Amino acid sequence: MRARAIPQPRPVRGLDLLAKVAASAVPVLASPIDQLRHDGRRILDQASGHKEPPFTDRAVGPRPLTPLAEVSVVSALLPGTLGERLRQLGRDLDMVRQRLRGNPPKATIDRPKRTRLAATPAPRKAIRPRPVVVTRVVRETPDAVSLFLTEEDGSPFEFVAGQFLSFDVEVDGEVHRRAYSLATPPLDGRDAHVTIKRVDGGRVSNHLNDHAEAGMSLRVLGPSGAFTLEPDGCAQHLVLIAGGSGITPIAAIAEMALEAAPHARVTLLYGNRGETDVIFRERFDALAVRHPDRFRVEHVLESPSAAWTGARGRLDGPTTMERLAALGHTDAGCAYYVCGPSGMMDAVREALLESGVDAGRIHEERFSRPEARTDGAVELGAHTVTLKADGRSLEVVTDGQTILEAGLAAGLDMPFSCAMGGCAACKVKVTSGHVVMEEPNCLTRAERDEGYVLACVGRAGSPCTVEVER
Ligand code: FES
Repeated sequence: MRARAIPQPRPVRGLDLLAKVAASAVPVLASPIDQLRHDGRRILDQASGHKEPPFTDRAVGPRPLTPLAEVSVVSALLPGTLGERLRQLGRDLDMVRQRLRGNPPKATIDRPKRTRLAATPAPRKAIRPRPVVVTRVVRETPDAVSLFLTEEDGSPFEFVAGQFLSFDVEVDGEVHRRAYSLATPPLDGRDAHVTIKRVDGGRVSNHLNDHAEAGMSLRVLGPSGAFTLEPDGCAQHLVLIAGGSGITPIAAIAEMALEAAPHARVTLLYGNRGETDVIFRERFDALAVRHPDRFRVEHVLESPSAAWTGARGRLDGPTTMERLAALGHTDAGCAYYVCGPSGMMDAVREALLESGVDAGRIHEERFSRPEARTDGAVELGAHTVTLKADGRSLEVVTDGQTILEAGLAAGLDMPFSCAMGGCAACKVKVTSGHVVMEEPNCLTRAERDEGYVLACVGRAGSPCTVEVER
């Protein structure tokens, strides 16, 4: 299992010292001053072009600011080693003080206890979704609606362009979990929103299209997901290929690249059935006007009206390559981002690989529920899952639960963190049988090819055996 390194705090700067002095002078305003400090550092970062590693970077992640309580004006003025020693001494004295008061400090890192499978440790609690508020509802097309969201306390979301939220939505007394991508980039002045398109028989998508309204409360997990703009992706040409509602993460990525990276060029191919199915058409037109040398969008419609003068056809492999050629596209190390119906994605991937694009440059995001991807050999329902770890094995019976839920319910200490397919902490290897996962999730194609699945979004499609790795 991969673990994220604990990032060291960022070095103390002038703004931190200023905030410390202000908070010491007016202790009752320490909290808003600290918030101002965080906002100020973000603005300074943007102005200077400084970028922290994104949350999705499994190896590092962004570094936090040094907590205001630990910022010391005196130690910042001393030479490096002496200053650090003084800071450590301050921390140690603080811990001693807390202990003497009978209030020992919490461990900095919670280390989950590792116990053997058969030792029946107490199951850990799953992470609970949190409430968010719908501030605005915008109908994008007759079949798609945008829900603008804030955290319950009114604060904006922290996320990376291309990530998704997992919603727990109650429909007719039953709670369903669905993932929807944030369709905006995390830039100033953009309110975060998801855009949800009706799906034939889709209980959640149809429910939200029919009933979502401003003021409504929804429960979410995340943001999460690894279909994001790579830190170095902005320096190159991005080719974005989307079908239908697959445009949502693609739109966020396109806008992020255009607005945040002055040298990035973006080509977008967007396939739909007809004119009224095109989501964000005005938004892309406005981007093309604002960035005439850097952004090209081509709509490809399967059954347009007679008045349509643009490209026609189904956006499959041959059409994709044909349209790219018509746009004068040459592959010179471009990054390709693909999101849409499964059939379209498979065809586009195959065509790109055949044309010589290496697999590492193709980024994909799939959206589907396990129920939608079963075939004759795979039937979701009650199956026996044999869990193997530490040289022992235990059988659990799933009945619509995920492998993780079934394991935890049986008292097994299975590793997990986000419980929504976004961190890979729950990765297990399937050695026999079928496990079907909800999509999207963060598992890479290479990991899938090696037989790994994510226990938190994986359901048994047949009797199966999985190995829990430590
Ligand atoms: S717990 Fe994060 S992916 Fe499963």
